[in-house]
Amino acid sequence: MIIAIDGPAASGKSVTAKDVAKKLKYIHINTGSMYRAVTLYFLEKKVNLDNGTIFKKELKKLKINFNFKNEIFINDIDVSNKLRQDSVNNNVSKVSAVKVVRDNLVALQRNIALDNNVVMEGRDIGTTVFPNADFKFYLTADIEVRAKRRLIENQKSENDIQSMIDQIKKRDNLDKKRKHSPLVVADGAIIIDTTNMKIADQVEKIVNIIKRKDKYTNE
Ligand code: DC
Repeated sequence: MIIAIDGPAASGKSVTAKDVAKKLKYIHINTGSMYRAVTLYFLEKKVNLDNGTIFKKELKKLKINFNFKNEIFINDIDVSNKLRQDSVNNNVSKVSAVKVVRDNLVALQRNIALDNNVVMEGRDIGTTVFPNADFKFYLTADIEVRAKRRLIENQKSENDIQSMIDQIKKRDNLDKKRKHSPLVVADGAIIIDTTNMKIADQVEKIVNIIKRKDKYTNE
């Protein structure tokens, strides 16, 4: 069973996907972390991010592993706690727009679902990675609410709200306008606006939809 959850930055995908997976006893896969890990690696190796043609060669030197706690390892080193730093935030959309990066990571993501029931979240799960996913959801929320949530998550002051809005808008724009697998609502996706919802409510809504439909198809 494959549950795809897509949506823009800070729309609540990660926490929702994690809790839905927990309730269903499925594996939660956060694909954004994979793109972040590649970005971190390129930054640390001082790869010129404006020259996507050299990415292929650089990717050959990179081994990404992760476990089902969503800890990510680059060449066997745990980098999980470095993935949310500003330098990664500011460059991940550029790196993830490059086809060879996407091809590598999509292959990895498809592989995981061969032997597992998964709740996979990202930007292109319902469109490219698993266009035939059993369930597709698209989470969204007002930009100000998303920025506030991200500030709280990063333990930053409310005074930083405008720069957070700008950062999220910039990233969303790049993710929506890129040539390969842009962020769009997948065919058949159920849109959930979480602006006025609590996490527990959005989790319950998704789990109920899955259980109801499952019951219906099993009858
Ligand atoms: O979900 P996140 O904010 O951690 O994702 C970081 C970036 O990775 C996002 O701005 C675009 C990219 N991404 C992507 O292109 N495709 C995915 N399936 C997941 C993330």
